[in-house]
Amino acid sequence: MTDPTPLAELAERYGTPLYVYELSELRAAHTALRQALPEEALLYYSLKANPHPELVRELTAAGCRAEVCSESELDAARAAGLPGAAVLCTGPGKTTAELRHALEHGVRRFSVESPVDLTRLGAAARAAGTRAEALLRLNPDTYPAGAGLAMGGAPTQFGSDVSWVRSSPGAFRAEGVDLVGYHVYTGSNVQEPDQLAHWFTAAADAVVQAQESLRIDLRMVDLGGGFGHPYLTPGARPGFGALRPALRELVKDRLAPLAERPLELAFESGRYLVGAAGRFVVRVQDVKVSKGRRIVVADGGINALGGMAGLRRIPPMAATAVTLAAGSAEPLDEAVLTGPLCTTLDVLNARLPLPDVRPGDLLSIPNCGAYGMTASLLAFLGRRPPAEVFLDAGRVRAATALRLSHHDIHLRRQP
Ligand SMILES: Cc1ncc(COP(=O)(O)O)c(C=O)c1O
Repeated sequence: MTDPTPLAELAERYGTPLYVYELSELRAAHTALRQALPEEALLYYSLKANPHPELVRELTAAGCRAEVCSESELDAARAAGLPGAAVLCTGPGKTTAELRHALEHGVRRFSVESPVDLTRLGAAARAAGTRAEALLRLNPDTYPAGAGLAMGGAPTQFGSDVSWVRSSPGAFRAEGVDLVGYHVYTGSNVQEPDQLAHWFTAAADAVVQAQESLRIDLRMVDLGGGFGHPYLTPGARPGFGALRPALRELVKDRLAPLAERPLELAFESGRYLVGAAGRFVVRVQDVKVSKGRRIVVADGGINALGGMAGLRRIPPMAATAVTLAAGSAEPLDEAVLTGPLCTTLDVLNARLPLPDVRPGDLLSIPNCGAYGMTASLLAFLGRRPPAEVFLDAGRVRAATALRLSHHDIHLRRQP
């Protein structure tokens, strides 16, 4: 991946902007993460990070299950060969149609966010002639301060406040569905093992508090994740090996005593598993000076890379690009690297040291296997979605392109 020649060749062959993924990186990340978790833990790959079936297939072959939030993420998991029984459906606002789709595909375990979500799941299961199993997603009452993108602790659409569960335990029951566990996802992109250990402790505390009131027949606790990774900038994947003994103790002392049978312990990860595998390659289209600043316009921007970051989410965008042109390794001065969209938000990096790049030169942005294309504004301006090329130890294994098109649904709506 570091040798510029293959990337330049791939850019010639498949066009730009282009995603290039190295599958051996996925296997290495998976091995590293497994070593951080208790041996018996289940690991769910969060498809929101990147739902491409090539990546899902690689991770499920390595032993991951799938955490999905939509019909299309479920379809991607199924297309990768995963049975519904190995899928966990999560997320706020699940519709009856989505629940029906999941049940039809053999999914039985769902994370539910509220009594309404639980009741809707029970009704969908009964309508499908089956029973579902639910993990109640908890929003802890107290949160440790610190790095990362917090997913709760404040007013939120995610989960049910532990104080609510404790004050109204009767609201968290529904026909057609067995409450078998808890799900807590405290936050995302924590890069320090000690910090993450604090967050897992807060998650376990929430489980203990909820279980004191609900007293369910506890079978599973999903402690979420938050395993951080550099995003669009150079950097190695953090080592979380120190977590394993801390997690073992947490389970032994706090969680296992809550269950009358061996507890299924689960974790979820998106960015850590796939972040390092992806590179984004763009071609410089224009270079000019505006009000004293060098502007470099690339053929891919927040329409194809981290558009959520462009909207000042996950985290603010400062993509680091290196030029693939031979002989131009010297950074000269700072440039503004932009994409091709008609919005001032389409800035990949406002202060990027770059050599004297010219139109036609290629730039490569590292660590964008997660929250790249599908976290982007693909439909805005309707430019062709980038091709995605999958390498295994440097050899092309697959290449695909996403198609965005309108199709007629008018007739289908007629009685
Ligand atoms: C419930 C849940 N699980 C898993 C993830 C994946 O997070 P990451 O890609 O940081 O591992 C998220 C991210 O927001 C999430 O909300």
